[in-house]
Amino acid sequence: MAELELVVFVLLVILRCLNPSYGANEDRCAPKVCLQGQPSIRFPYRLNNLQNDSCSYPGFELSCNADGNTVINLPYSGEFLVDFIHYRQQNIWLKDPNDCLPQRLKNFNLMGSTLQAAGYRGFTFWNCSNISDRKLPGLTRVGCLSGENYSIMALPTDELSNTDPKSVEGCHDTWNLQVPSVPKDWSSSLTIKTIGLKWDVPDCESCEEQHGTCALKNEKSREVTCSYPDGMPSTLKAFVLES
Ligand SMILES: *[C@@H]1O[C@H](CO)[C@@H](O)[C@H](O)[C@H]1NC(C)=O
Ligand SMILES: *[C@@H]1O[C@H](CO)[C@@H](O)[C@H](O)[C@H]1NC(C)=O
Ligand SMILES: *[C@@H]1O[C@H](CO)[C@@H](O)[C@H](O)[C@H]1NC(C)=O
Ligand SMILES: *[C@@H]1O[C@H](CO)[C@@H](O)[C@H](O)[C@H]1NC(C)=O
Repeated sequence: MAELELVVFVLLVILRCLNPSYGANEDRCAPKVCLQGQPSIRFPYRLNNLQNDSCSYPGFELSCNADGNTVINLPYSGEFLVDFIHYRQQNIWLKDPNDCLPQRLKNFNLMGSTLQAAGYRGFTFWNCSNISDRKLPGLTRVGCLSGENYSIMALPTDELSNTDPKSVEGCHDTWNLQVPSVPKDWSSSLTIKTIGLKWDVPDCESCEEQHGTCALKNEKSREVTCSYPDGMPSTLKAFVLES
């Protein structure tokens, strides 16, 4: 057993030496929020007025708007509210500031952004002149697209089953929309209030899993490094404690 402990000890010393950023960024890059209740922002993201440039991966800047909401600016699609960030799964959930996502998605383009769609959920829309719940079970009215004398109705396309969208009574038009989403979280896209996007680079998934702190290796590099609160990943800690 003594030999094993020595091996683990040497391993820990090596790990510390391999972690040049250990401790260095901790205060400067501590998580920040725009306002209480807003998502906690940390690497790979930063809030551009509250955290230093080097606290984020290039292209992962967020900001606070006048109302204290966290916002992201997508180069070709404009500003969205940041609803939630899942750092370990590397997902980010966005909302339209005017709460009319179907409108925003008509010209939605992720070109030039650090984000991608992990998947899409298809929605079918109808323009209906004479609606009643009896005739259109399960359809959601999209208030922001509807007018005084017509209602825009929507349903996830996979729930349409055998209905021919053209045959829905009282509706004279139908079209489809692909809503970017995260497949394992379909339910949150049911009402078309949020879109779910993912990032693959930088990859901090295993670091997050080990409760480590992911950071840039140095200010000029695009490589990331993982540091741990007491110098070792939790799996190694468990191993040491058991031995
Ligand atoms: C970011 O931090 C570095 C190193 O601490 C410092 O030299 C630089 O001025 C800071 N930049 C900003 C914008 O605060
Ligand atoms: C829905 O149809 C009405 C006419 O019945 C039209 O005025 C309106 O622009 C249509 N809306 C959409 C989003 O197609
Ligand atoms: C609207 O629906 C009602 C009940 O389904 C029907 O009696 C009425 O004729 C419809 N009106 C129009 C303009 O389609
Ligand atoms: C809606 O229909 C009513 C009754 O036909 C009509 O008086 C009104 O002008 C219509 N509103 C719009 C915005 O077209």
